[in-house]
Amino acid sequence: MSAAVIDALSGRGVALPATPAPDGEEDLQLALFVCYELAYRGWDGVDDRWEWDPDLLRLRAALEHRFESALHRLAGPAAAVDPATVPARLADLAAADDGPSLSRFLRGRATHEEFREFVIHRSVYQLREADPHTYVIPRLAGVAKAALIEIQLDEYGGGVVTRMHQELFKNTMRWFGLNQAYGWYVDAVGADTLATNNVMSLFALHRRHRAAVLGHLAAYEMTSTIPNRAYAGGLRRLGGDRDATAFYDEHVEADAVHEQIAAYDMCGSFAAAEPELAGDLLFGARCALALGARWAAAVLDAWKSGRSSLRQVTEP
Ligand SMILES: [Fe+2]
Repeated sequence: MSAAVIDALSGRGVALPATPAPDGEEDLQLALFVCYELAYRGWDGVDDRWEWDPDLLRLRAALEHRFESALHRLAGPAAAVDPATVPARLADLAAADDGPSLSRFLRGRATHEEFREFVIHRSVYQLREADPHTYVIPRLAGVAKAALIEIQLDEYGGGVVTRMHQELFKNTMRWFGLNQAYGWYVDAVGADTLATNNVMSLFALHRRHRAAVLGHLAAYEMTSTIPNRAYAGGLRRLGGDRDATAFYDEHVEADAVHEQIAAYDMCGSFAAAEPELAGDLLFGARCALALGARWAAAVLDAWKSGRSSLRQVTEP
């Protein structure tokens, strides 16, 4: 499925498959990732007009239907909730998150090679950090919009290129001797990593998911401070210098503030303005946490059984 999409996009005169029949989870996630990237920075040698090609969009919609069904099974469908309870419910979800086991391992025990693998997985998102959530700005108004912009401004370094989180992450990659080119390691990561990225694109590119994308961002911000402190500590333990840890140190500071803005100003205000979507906010948060936990468990599982967590090693 993904190979057929790639062949069609490459302009080799190959028609898109008429019906989507992904050969497993990895094939589904890779095909979706290839489609979604057309809405970000595109693919070298691929005509930008593919982004709005009706046949490709029809195919993508069928793949998204499968992905959304899987998300409902994984995170439970959106249920109606009292909009006033949204900030407290988000805090409960964040408190119950079992993702930190990976950050504890990285802080205390991970080898240089394991931490390097972690950075490779994360590079797929961090080199475009914040970009998916930016898509929702024109779909909002008032307090929720202002709150999202306040968060995004920090993510984009207040307009200073060296302080953009996307750029700060390159310092960490450089310290590990990794290739900092956008998308370089997409081939090296498996379905779980691609799914954590695809869920953001799915939510970001559809207006009907505008609440889910806010819930997703809130979950990220509300579960960020403790793991990022652990990542910074782990990297210092391995000899990482100030430049190498700057990305993580920055998130310890910034996300403690973002946590409150995201829960109350952004999600709380949005839920008050569009109460029928309050359940979608929580659905988005649950998807972020469930996919993150699934990914973290797979990475830890690989390391604990002496395997690489990458599907192939791509050298810079
Ligand atoms: Fe950030």
